Amino acid sequence: MTTGELKKMDRSHVVYSWKAQRSVDPIIMDRAEGIYQWDTDGNKYIDFCSGLLNINIGHSNKHVLDAMKKQMDKITYVGTMFGSEPKARLAKMISEVTPGDLDYTFFTNGGAESIENAIKAVRLLTGRHKIYSMWRSYHGATAGAITLTGDPRRWAGEPGIPGVVKFFGPYPYHDIFESDSEEECSRKSLEMLKTQIMLDGPHTIAAIFIEPIIGTNGIIIPTREYVQGIRQLCDENGILLVADETMGGWGRSGKWFSINHFDVVPDIMTTAKGLTSGYVQLGAMIWNKKLWDHFYDHPFVGGLTYGGHALACATGIANIEVYREENLIENSAVNGEYLNKKLLELKEKHPSVGDVRCKGLWACIELTSDKKTHAPLAGFNDSIQNVSGALTKRLAELGLTLFAKWDFIFIAPPLIITQDQIDEAIEKIDDALNITDAKI
Ligand SMILES: Cc1ncc(COP(=O)(O)O)c(C=O)c1O
Repeated sequence: MTTGELKKMDRSHVVYSWKAQRSVDPIIMDRAEGIYQWDTDGNKYIDFCSGLLNINIGHSNKHVLDAMKKQMDKITYVGTMFGSEPKARLAKMISEVTPGDLDYTFFTNGGAESIENAIKAVRLLTGRHKIYSMWRSYHGATAGAITLTGDPRRWAGEPGIPGVVKFFGPYPYHDIFESDSEEECSRKSLEMLKTQIMLDGPHTIAAIFIEPIIGTNGIIIPTREYVQGIRQLCDENGILLVADETMGGWGRSGKWFSINHFDVVPDIMTTAKGLTSGYVQLGAMIWNKKLWDHFYDHPFVGGLTYGGHALACATGIANIEVYREENLIENSAVNGEYLNKKLLELKEKHPSVGDVRCKGLWACIELTSDKKTHAPLAGFNDSIQNVSGALTKRLAELGLTLFAKWDFIFIAPPLIITQDQIDEAIEKIDDALNITDAKI
């Protein structure tokens, strides 16, 4: 079938996410290996956002594919009331890499389902109903998860589930407090949250959900004091802390989980994406001992037909083996520093690059129309203009795919990337930024 015929079939029958269908004109991808993907016309692209920030180990890893084939020949699915070797082994391996006493895993099919089940768990344990989450956040597209989400993807899901309360986290580049430092911005944000909780009634709040490093709302990296302050606030008020590591987990930030940067142990961690690097879908909600002890004697009223899917768990095991054997967490930390250096060079050179935030192989270029005032170029939700469309189109012509929206250009290559490959990708971004420079 030609690319034209495939595209015609696709656009006649496939419904795409988040967009009016008329505006969808996808590149039809055909195969992938390592950090590269090829379309059906044989064009090669650097995958500079790891699929959808999930292909952390890179495409077509042989160790994982072999493990999947082996499992498929044995048994692919086991009913959730039964045990299986892949499920037990993966849950144990997860407990070895998660911080503190996060040792007990409930398997789901993705990030949003993990959040749904965490909402249920914290409400059942505390008997309280309110859930706190940040304005600048994304937690998934199902009913509860989209209500916790702060960004505009929430609007179509409103009024959403009851009891969800939003708060502002620190955002030094657009600091409403006009602080002199990131530390001061964090301190004031924490003070504001403390006051909000006091006024709202701490005894009504079941949990605070955070992305320890904020993902699709701009890779916003808080200070240690801020995250530790939230933990303390939770402890003082009997509130549980849930860390959403769907995107920030599995080496993306240069550590196993983004929460590791802050020396904080949450009560629950939710995750997905890099758990299987997208080779097949799998998510997880991971409990600490407090949750485990409670649900040892009380039913956890939740279940999913595909929870603990044997093929998915075998894929997860093989993924963790790859992270360990190929030193991918260390590679993310070391090459992340190199990436940061290259991005700072772009910031120096381009008038439209306002800020660069990078942790491990997880970064964001924030565009501006004025480096001095930090005024936006596209604006929140493209309220001024859309620049990401032209930018990603140009990058694709240059042989690189990534995810960009509003004033954010997200960079999250597979953790196997080398410094030479980073150079090759940065050259293409350097070229494409002429488009945004020309808009000033
Ligand atoms: C922090 C965070 N939580 C939850 C989700 C939702 O995950 P999924 O699309 O697997 O449901 C995402 C997806 O990008 C995410 O970034």
